[in-house]
Amino acid sequence: MKAVLFDRFGEPAEVLRVGDAAAQEPGRNEVCVRMILSPINPSDLLVVRGQYGRLPALPATPGFEGVGIIDAVGPGFFKRLRGLRPGRRVAALNGQGGNWREFVILPARQAVPLADDIPDEQAASFFVNPATALVMIQDVLRVRPGDWLLQTAAGSALGQMVVRLGRRLGFRTINVVRRNETAEELLRLGADEVIATDRERVEDRVRTITKGAGVRFALDAVGGETGLIAVRSLGVGGRMLVYGTLSNQPIPVDPRLLIAGQKRIEGFWLSEWMQAQGVLTILRLFRRIHAMMRVGILTTPVQATYALEHIGEAVRAADKPGRSGKILLKLSPASG
Ligand SMILES: NC(=O)c1ccc[n+]([C@@H]2O[C@H](COP(=O)([O-])OP(=O)(O)OC[C@H]3O[C@@H](n4cnc5c(N)ncnc54)[C@H](OP(=O)(O)O)[C@@H]3O)[C@@H](O)[C@H]2O)c1
Repeated sequence: MKAVLFDRFGEPAEVLRVGDAAAQEPGRNEVCVRMILSPINPSDLLVVRGQYGRLPALPATPGFEGVGIIDAVGPGFFKRLRGLRPGRRVAALNGQGGNWREFVILPARQAVPLADDIPDEQAASFFVNPATALVMIQDVLRVRPGDWLLQTAAGSALGQMVVRLGRRLGFRTINVVRRNETAEELLRLGADEVIATDRERVEDRVRTITKGAGVRFALDAVGGETGLIAVRSLGVGGRMLVYGTLSNQPIPVDPRLLIAGQKRIEGFWLSEWMQAQGVLTILRLFRRIHAMMRVGILTTPVQATYALEHIGEAVRAADKPGRSGKILLKLSPASG
């Protein structure tokens, strides 16, 4: 079976190769999934670069999520409980990484049966970004209708979900992007305000928009000077979640910024949040994502799909600024 492999950490386009991996049989309460499509997310590239919070033993295969068809099921009762049988299309959640291959073995609880009306291109990104957006907004920050929320990297797939969630749930978004071209698309999706750092001073605009009060909530995936802008935009009692490191730079925060107004900066990592939840919460989360994906709130724009064999070109495209959507890897023929 074909798989994307890397034997050392480094630049993805240099270290990733296509090779042969041994096929395995599913064990107790496991399923074997024939993978169809998997997105190239920033976290996948961080793993390959050796910069992610948890790293695999080498050689390894990247890929935290994707869509596939159940090929075989191992013994155990869990699969019956969830309707997991050969031929069923599922979202394949793989917190350990390893989905960029033709067949993958997963614990049955990490295979999520999908409704037929969700296309493969959307099902490929069923979990990582939708769950993070929903959980940060509704479970961690508990953003309420009317609240102002500022987010950086707002043009990202996850940022666009937050904009649509704002429209649906009634909170207002100030969206910080690095290129003005992104602004129109975000306004079309329902953004209340968009500020391009290549055009304007964010703090001045935030002050005007919020009538000097600052925002109650901020989400930052960039760090560095952009992260600092988000901290500066917080109002009294403001809370900021940091959840990404796109600039690879530390946020240079003067402690006085936090002391006056008793503001908070907190980290968020979906993987750790999941580990702290019970099975019922996770099953409910799958249902919430399903519902919001079907009505177009937690959807992901796709720019292009590359065959597994073209992994070098695919990761180069995923790393390019100004993409119009996700880069997907095609791992085997579609569900038909
Ligand atoms: N903590 C967690 O559990 C968790 C879970 C899911 C995702 N995340 C994080 O969420 C972030 C977004 O993920 P995604 O899949 O939605 O991303 P994506 O769709 O691949 O888009 C990346 C976006 O980041 C912007 N960007 C890249 N480098 C930047 C920089 N140095 N300064 C400003 N903007 C920059 C790009 O802007 P351009 O359009 O200008 O190129 C693009 O809009 C990533 O950092 C990811 O790691 C974290």
